[in-house]
Amino acid sequence: MSEATRVACVMGWPAKQSRSPKLHGYWIKRYNIDGDYRVAEIPPESFPEFVKNLAKNGYVGGNVTMPHKDVAFAQSEPDERAKAVGAANTLWVDGSRLRSTNTDVEGFIGALDANAPGWDRITDTAVVLGAGGASRAVIYGLIERGIKTIDVVNRTPAKAEAAKTRFGSAVHPATWDDVPRLLKGAKLLINASSLGMKGQPELKIDLSPMAKDAVVADIVYVPLKTKLLEAAQQRGFRTSDGLDMLLYQAVRGFTLWFGIKPEVTKELREMLAADVMKST
Ligand code: ATR
Repeated sequence: MSEATRVACVMGWPAKQSRSPKLHGYWIKRYNIDGDYRVAEIPPESFPEFVKNLAKNGYVGGNVTMPHKDVAFAQSEPDERAKAVGAANTLWVDGSRLRSTNTDVEGFIGALDANAPGWDRITDTAVVLGAGGASRAVIYGLIERGIKTIDVVNRTPAKAEAAKTRFGSAVHPATWDDVPRLLKGAKLLINASSLGMKGQPELKIDLSPMAKDAVVADIVYVPLKTKLLEAAQQRGFRTSDGLDMLLYQAVRGFTLWFGIKPEVTKELREMLAADVMKST
């Protein structure tokens, strides 16, 4: 490795479970870049100092995961998108500045565009399950693409209300009891909650009231094919999964750190899918 080697990392505690090193490592090799993507497991008490000195620590940037997201957001200069979503997952060093953005928005939208082209032409209404950080990225992306009414279903009502305060009157807070009514004739459903994820409670939901040409997306990618996506496919709906969201969200970070816009290929998806399968 030369002095010019550009090094990015995933910052978390723990962080070993992250699939980002595999993903960025694949692109580094494929584009023959003098670079590296490492795992930086940083305990919460050391993180403020670590992130403040990211460049001095030898990094050109990186991804931020739990539990450091709030500190990273507070200690960097978030762009408009990160500010709007209220969370940053990607940092980059820009001269003497430490800047941040939220790439979950384009991750979610990029995956949806790839898996269900024209999804935004069949409806202007969506049902979003969950109101956490990932959900905010989903809501932002939907509004940006012209969705006018977004029913946000959440266990904790205050968080769905907070989404309305943040994003405005397009957001309609709702409860899980409302779901059967909301799905009547619905064409777009997104699970942005952690339900259905390995180790979490199941997401039990009847998709039969949805329209025949519906599109269903899930941010969960372990398991790769969630029960929700399985049920949607059985009904012939188009689906978009969490792994594609992960792949598409990684594009901008890689571009910022290494200067090349990488391609999401079938081979890359298959490599990561095999890795996810191993853990389920
Ligand atoms: P992320 O950053 O991935 O979005 P998060 O902010 O912790 O993670 O959000 C997790 C989402 O899943 C929330 O909407 C959460 O609902 P609450 O706001 O009520 O906590 C939802 N969720 C997690 N476990 C749940 C459960 N057992 N039942 C219903 N909703 C659940």
